[in-house]
Amino acid sequence: MTLRLGDTAPDFSQDSTEGTIDFYDFVGDSWAVLFSHPKDFTPVCTTELGYVGKLKPEFDKRNVKVLGLSVDPLSDHTQWVGDIEETQGHQFNFPLLADADRKVSDLYDMIHPNANDTLTVRSVFIIDPAKKVRLIITYPASTGRNFDEILRVIDSLQLTDGYKVATPVNWKDGDDVIIVPALSDEDAKERFPKGWVAHKPYLRVTPQPNK
Ligand code: BEZ
Repeated sequence: MTLRLGDTAPDFSQDSTEGTIDFYDFVGDSWAVLFSHPKDFTPVCTTELGYVGKLKPEFDKRNVKVLGLSVDPLSDHTQWVGDIEETQGHQFNFPLLADADRKVSDLYDMIHPNANDTLTVRSVFIIDPAKKVRLIITYPASTGRNFDEILRVIDSLQLTDGYKVATPVNWKDGDDVIIVPALSDEDAKERFPKGWVAHKPYLRVTPQPNK
């Protein structure tokens, strides 16, 4: 089954470097980032996992659990984690699913047979506390992901869930935002007391409301 934005993220139980992960229990009332790696002992994946570990405090600040996946057995993961810690300069601090039976990879459609029929692509899913899929990105195996971008999207999702705004191109936390076009000027006056600049009736720019 193809997953789309707004769908309920499938639950699963799978081994990991931190024991069995029951996905819904693991996520609890948090957000989650689930991301796949083509294979253990590969260079790009090694740098990605190291970087996610470095960003972990930023995910924690946003109430986000991170969960990696690779379709290799736990015994390989355990050895690889040692390499990641050695080469990337700090402790491995989040679970990596050992999806050797491809249970989770199949559920989340992470193997794209016309790209490679055994390895996963680099999938990223952002899942909200209601277990709805809020972002899906797919990168090819040869391209390491930009996990700062994943944090940026989380900032946008968490902001736009709370206020009637959307975030413009290349927006970063703290930048001005856009008032959703469906909101009348009359209602906007109540919700955005700092006011706005209307470049067009549908393009109203206001300071980020929670700053
Ligand atoms: C890597 O992580 O370096 C990688 C994995 C699969 C294919 C190409 C590169």
